[in-house]
Amino acid sequence: MVETAKQTGFAGNVLLEAKDLRVGFMRGGGSDEIGVAVDGVSFSLSRGKTLCLVGESGCGKSVTALRLLRLLPVPPARLFGGSVIFDGQDLDAMSATELRRIRGRQTGMIFQDPMTSLNPVMRVGVQMTEALRLHCGISAQEALVAAIDMLERVGIANGMSRVRDFPHQMSGGMRQRVMIGMSMLTNPDLLIADEPTTALDVTVQKQILELMRDLLDNSGSALLLITHNLGIVEQMADEVAIMYSGRIVEQGSAAAVLDSPAHPYTLGLLRSRPRNAARKQRLEAIAGTVPNLWNSPNGCAFHPRCPSAHEKCRRERPPLFAAKATFSRCWLAQ
Ligand SMILES: Nc1ncnc2c1ncn2[C@@H]1O[C@H](COP(=O)(O)OP(=O)(O)OP(=O)(O)O)[C@@H](O)[C@H]1O
Ligand SMILES: [Mg+2]
Repeated sequence: MVETAKQTGFAGNVLLEAKDLRVGFMRGGGSDEIGVAVDGVSFSLSRGKTLCLVGESGCGKSVTALRLLRLLPVPPARLFGGSVIFDGQDLDAMSATELRRIRGRQTGMIFQDPMTSLNPVMRVGVQMTEALRLHCGISAQEALVAAIDMLERVGIANGMSRVRDFPHQMSGGMRQRVMIGMSMLTNPDLLIADEPTTALDVTVQKQILELMRDLLDNSGSALLLITHNLGIVEQMADEVAIMYSGRIVEQGSAAAVLDSPAHPYTLGLLRSRPRNAARKQRLEAIAGTVPNLWNSPNGCAFHPRCPSAHEKCRRERPPLFAAKATFSRCWLAQ
């Protein structure tokens, strides 16, 4: 079974192709043990499309996103091969300078934790306009006007005075919106958004997601969106990749994954979503816990929690099989 991006059914104008990404972390404390956080992740993303990366806490979503633009600290991280082709260029073969240019000009990244990714001693306006000034040849004055406009678009009033704030003068939700606005200022070809709206209330969340949609529709940018929220997946995704314990376990078009999932983990996730928030019914949580880097089970990593597990699942790791409508890493889909 060859696992290529073609299997995911993406066609046409591919912007990003990630192949067989593998990332480990050193255990530290004098031990030379390495735990595998991302284990053979492949996907591709076309212009104008949104791929949602979904899965429980600790399954490797953020590490996958950071690996793409080589933003992981090495060590403790170790990158084991794989390749990232972006706009026809091999990012892993680039010099640090070339990579910085790509990061600043062609990609935007909204980090999961905006508090730690904003510089506390730099005014918001200066941070927001850095990429525009450095990589896009725009004057400081023009860049500031764009930043003020962007602040208003992400719902921060008085942009004119807010650009002079330091991050600590803003609320958590505002800082998150600053990150979002900053990532979109350069009109990037690829936007990577890691849980971009978790700290925001529902109306602001809706506004921000619509802003992202506008960016995609107007400029043909692609969006890699990491989220726990299946409602957001329904609203935003063209393609979906479900991760479990460092691997993609199910992949396909949003309609296929949401309506005809084949993997028992995806089925569990869909069952655990609140179908009727008004009635506040209890979520049907998946029993058991996600394995960590140091205790990944043999065979299929999901087998200890899987209601359909059988002997083979305990022994052998399943490859991605073509299931009814999706690709599923499950022996039942063989
Ligand atoms: N710098 C690091 N050093 C050691 N281990 C790390 C480091 N960063 C991540 N990990 C480990 O890698 C695994 C994957 O982490 P990752 O942050 O990608 O999870 P995630 O899917 O984004 O989870 P969440 O939904 O909570 O954000 C976890 O077990 C985590 O503990
Ligand atoms: Mg994360």
